Amino acid sequence: MNDRFLTLAIESSCDETAAAVLDGGRQVLSNVISSQIAIHEAYGGVVPEIASRKHLENMNPVVQCALDEAGVTWKDIDLIGVTHGPGLIGALVIGVAAAKGYSLAGNIPLIGVNHMYGHVSSNFITYPDLEPPFLCLVVSGGHTNIVEVEGYTKIKVLGSTRDDAVGEAYDKVARVIGLGYPGGPKIDKLAKEGNPEAIHFKRVYLEKESFDFSFSGIKTAVLNYVNSERQAGREIKTADVAAGFQEAVVEVLVTKSVEAVNRYSSKDDNSFNRRLVVAGGVAANSRLREALVEACDREKIKLYLPEMGLCTDNAAMIGSAAYYKYKEYGPDDLSLDAYADLSF
Ligand code: KG4
Ligand code: ZN
Repeated sequence: MNDRFLTLAIESSCDETAAAVLDGGRQVLSNVISSQIAIHEAYGGVVPEIASRKHLENMNPVVQCALDEAGVTWKDIDLIGVTHGPGLIGALVIGVAAAKGYSLAGNIPLIGVNHMYGHVSSNFITYPDLEPPFLCLVVSGGHTNIVEVEGYTKIKVLGSTRDDAVGEAYDKVARVIGLGYPGGPKIDKLAKEGNPEAIHFKRVYLEKESFDFSFSGIKTAVLNYVNSERQAGREIKTADVAAGFQEAVVEVLVTKSVEAVNRYSSKDDNSFNRRLVVAGGVAANSRLREALVEACDREKIKLYLPEMGLCTDNAAMIGSAAYYKYKEYGPDDLSLDAYADLSF
């Protein structure tokens, strides 16, 4: 028992109240998520004030549940890791305040974790042998990046979205075609019934050498298409819109990711360089996963997709990032703060 190093991790950056217990950086003993989707659904999106209140109500029970499911007590915990940004500030503050309280009460070291490092770290749990350096496509509700993971605590951004994140585009398009919140999974499902070639939405690649993205144009294109069809009195085939939109964004994400791997390694290079890791909520998208598998197979790139349950927000990924950050930098003190904007 003594060689265990147990981290209790807390995540509350958006609409999931989550807690997990990890042994080391990769072994998940429990991973509890209390989702608020049903509450926010009625409003068509996350209402920040309601999210904060729900985090407050859910935090202690969710943490207790994570301890119970792991079969441990506070005395066994060696580290408390908590998301301290980026995210909804009122939601983050609840997690950070709770973590500080637990840390003080139990005299347990505390560490703040960048949510985006957490997403990347979900792959360390899924793939026990995966180690940096590698390139990673990060696709979430707030971020779209191609990054170079130089080390567990060192990430260099190679490209970012210049406007909407890809998850945000999914959510907005879902609203336009009346699917509601959360849009990503609903478009994913509906697109399976549509023809991805029926409506062609423009792919935006920006400058040739750039790993940046832009998704606000396609959102407007979908809106214009829907409005013009309505004005002409034609029935809108929402499944075709969903499939056409999804095909356009997936094509850009896959093309740019493959280009990045090819830029950073030669095709006959068998070393660690020819690897592509994927992270974030949109990594759960079935069409993106399928297209990445095809492209990486063709290009002889080893592909790492996080397991489905670790794509969207969870505390297990925060526990992994917390462990590696603590090993390198040691603990934070009780002046730890929450930040709505926190870069990689
Ligand atoms: O990583 P995440 O859980 O939270 C952030 O850190 O933003 O990502 C949430 C985003 C939402 O925009 C959601 O619509 C999208 O991920 N998403 C999906 C799918 N599942 C979640 N997008 C497309 N297809 C999915 N299956
Ligand atoms: Zn997230």
